[in-house]
Amino acid sequence: MSAAPHPFWLAGREALGEDSFDVTSPWDGSTVGRVSVPTDAQVEEAVAAAYAVREEFAATPAHVRAAALDHVSKRLAERSEEIARLISAENGKPIKWARGEVGRAVSVFRLAAEEARRFNGGEAQRLDTDAGGVGRLALTRRFPKGAVLGIAPFNFPLNLCAHKVAPAIAVGAPIILKPAPATPLSALVLGELLAETELPVGSWSVLPVANERMPELVRDERLPVISFTGSDKVGYQIMDSVPRKHCTLELGGNGAALVLADFSAEADLDWAAQRIATFSNYQGGQSCISVQRVIADSSVYDRLVPKVVAAVEAQVTGDPSDAATDVGPLVSEDAARRVESWVDEAVKAGAQLLTGGVREGASYAPTVLAEVPGDVTISCEEVFGPVLTLQRADGTDAVLAAANDSKYGLQTGVFTHDIQAAFRAHRELEVGGVVVGDVPSYRADQMPYGGAKQSGVGREGVKFAMDDYTYERVLVLTGLEL
Ligand code: SIN
Repeated sequence: MSAAPHPFWLAGREALGEDSFDVTSPWDGSTVGRVSVPTDAQVEEAVAAAYAVREEFAATPAHVRAAALDHVSKRLAERSEEIARLISAENGKPIKWARGEVGRAVSVFRLAAEEARRFNGGEAQRLDTDAGGVGRLALTRRFPKGAVLGIAPFNFPLNLCAHKVAPAIAVGAPIILKPAPATPLSALVLGELLAETELPVGSWSVLPVANERMPELVRDERLPVISFTGSDKVGYQIMDSVPRKHCTLELGGNGAALVLADFSAEADLDWAAQRIATFSNYQGGQSCISVQRVIADSSVYDRLVPKVVAAVEAQVTGDPSDAATDVGPLVSEDAARRVESWVDEAVKAGAQLLTGGVREGASYAPTVLAEVPGDVTISCEEVFGPVLTLQRADGTDAVLAAANDSKYGLQTGVFTHDIQAAFRAHRELEVGGVVVGDVPSYRADQMPYGGAKQSGVGREGVKFAMDDYTYERVLVLTGLEL
């Protein structure tokens, strides 16, 4: 007999539906938990509650919202080891990365509490700059656009939920969070912590709704804001189905690490190789900003390649619960088979396999490819696996052009000491973020985060999501003596 299902969170209280499903470990197939699925009527109840509470929640004093956010931050910290183990179990993420993820979620809620206290101070603008505005003053404040539907992915089952929920609470926008079907348990724990706060009934729900039932929820007019993180295919389907809604889409990327000619000392190349190897494989490469492409100046390429291969081969693979493990399984065997098929396609088309290329169940060995033809799938799409392609280019013009030769544009890392080259990269790279001296995978949770081109629209990063969830409303005062 299977264990009792975990309840979900409907308008701030625990509830059980009629159906349930198992969450299994991608590492050993064991059952990590069973999760109850809301019925259509329960989903309707949550949406109606979010809609009904929107004005009350927007009017909640900042100190109430900030206190709730601080509470969640503190409780995440107190329960960090247990939650990290849960993330690792349901996602297959090595425990060291899962611990890092919980630490980041602690910060996200703390940052949101800080921002909630200073948000919306308002801005005053004198209007007597023209004769018609004498005695007039404009005050601008931001107000929530309405209830948010947050759709989270599996790769950061806690922190990418935090990035949707915390800014919504900070601005007083109700949120319905839909976690990924593979990894709902961390989001349900987040619900436990939210339930310990005094937030108004209906202001938040965590609903593990099946993907097939999402189109209807997406179209629901009572949820005017959609914040989605996931594949470009699904993201653009959502956006196309609701062109009049506000959609924030955090989509894919095929992050490039660029190594410029000046980054040529032995220690420089050792650092670049180490960082590239770590961040093409962290979480099995299942991050939108993991390193998928290395584009190195021809003058350093031949010295860099063996260092990268050695550093990739030094990655410790295996049981994600082991603190020594760098690379665990992918989220499912299907995911690993897809990665395998893309690597096989590239090798058949002439790519050199420098290391890796082996699958065992859901695990795929850290892999390095060189001389990859430009038209194979792995050169064009996001691999979302522990696979790196190496490319040489002659000079900075060619390196930057190769980096921009992608339909994606999330973040790029540029290894250089040259400040002019850094500014040039910032000017010319068509991406949401440029990291100098490190890989594209660096993300601090307060930074604006989001893409150019097909990597998405809008920005997350606590304050930026708060801006995204709200709009400016101006108040014009007349008859004043200014
Ligand atoms: C993502 O995969 O887009 C999130 C990366 C991160 O938060 O570090």
